[in-house]
Amino acid sequence: MSIINLKRFEDKYKYLLGEKFSDFHDALQLPPLKYFRVNSVRNIDYLKELDVKGIGYLSDPYFNDFYKLTDDVPVSDTISFLTGGVYIQNPSSIIPVDMLSRALNDKEEPVVLDMCAAPGGKTTGLSEKIDRRGLIVANEVSKSRLKSLHFNLEKYGAWNVKTTSVDGRVVGKMLPETFDGILLDAPCSNENKIYRNPEVSRNWSEDLVRKMQKLQTELIVSAYEALKPGGIMVYSTCTFSVEENEGVIRSLL
Ligand SMILES: C[S@@+](CC[C@H](N)C(=O)[O-])C[C@H]1O[C@@H](n2cnc3c(N)ncnc32)[C@H](O)[C@@H]1O
Repeated sequence: MSIINLKRFEDKYKYLLGEKFSDFHDALQLPPLKYFRVNSVRNIDYLKELDVKGIGYLSDPYFNDFYKLTDDVPVSDTISFLTGGVYIQNPSSIIPVDMLSRALNDKEEPVVLDMCAAPGGKTTGLSEKIDRRGLIVANEVSKSRLKSLHFNLEKYGAWNVKTTSVDGRVVGKMLPETFDGILLDAPCSNENKIYRNPEVSRNWSEDLVRKMQKLQTELIVSAYEALKPGGIMVYSTCTFSVEENEGVIRSLL
């Protein structure tokens, strides 16, 4: 089953990417690069523990407080990680957070919605990037995933965040024109993990992509309704399909 799905996935991207397909294919099979973000909210030098333990890292050239691990060592065993000083995070996750926080720079007390928030990697990053100003409403429809969100908000000291648990598709009608900024980090077909996670390749199909596109389109329309006039929305996914990215944005414009 998963072999058939992978073949259909590959045929689709061979058609779209032509001779660039082999680079795409090879890149997806590489082990993920390991990065971490240092929590700047507490006045603690979390990097010191890594230095003492001889754990190698390099500063990221683009993002402050963001580092690439140069050793294959489990940072998750460090006290810094266990006490919320370090969040293991891919650089692509910090881009939407960085974009939204910059757009909110001129607001003293921004009111922000993170519509699909668990486990909270972007919520905790956003809370930090806006210096805990204003209010972030972190919404997550899944009750089990809501627990991981609560855990991370507490662990990383994100005290300007309150949580809700409703279907994001109703938020626009519940709270029209309410938020200065909205992050819609949408559920998706997870194509970035297709070779690394057997469940993702087993579940992938053109039907799944269409199903996710429909859900994402309903979520983005709802998010747009919840945005104040002049507000900023950032839409992100961790998938490649044109349907779930440009297709969703196009449906709103
Ligand atoms: C890509 S993940 C979010 C990851 C998160 N932003 C982070 O950086 O840690 C998408 C989330 O959307 C949630 N979700 C799925 N359908 C939803 C809906 N209709 N309304 C709100 N959240 C939804 C999923 O349970 C999942 O936790």
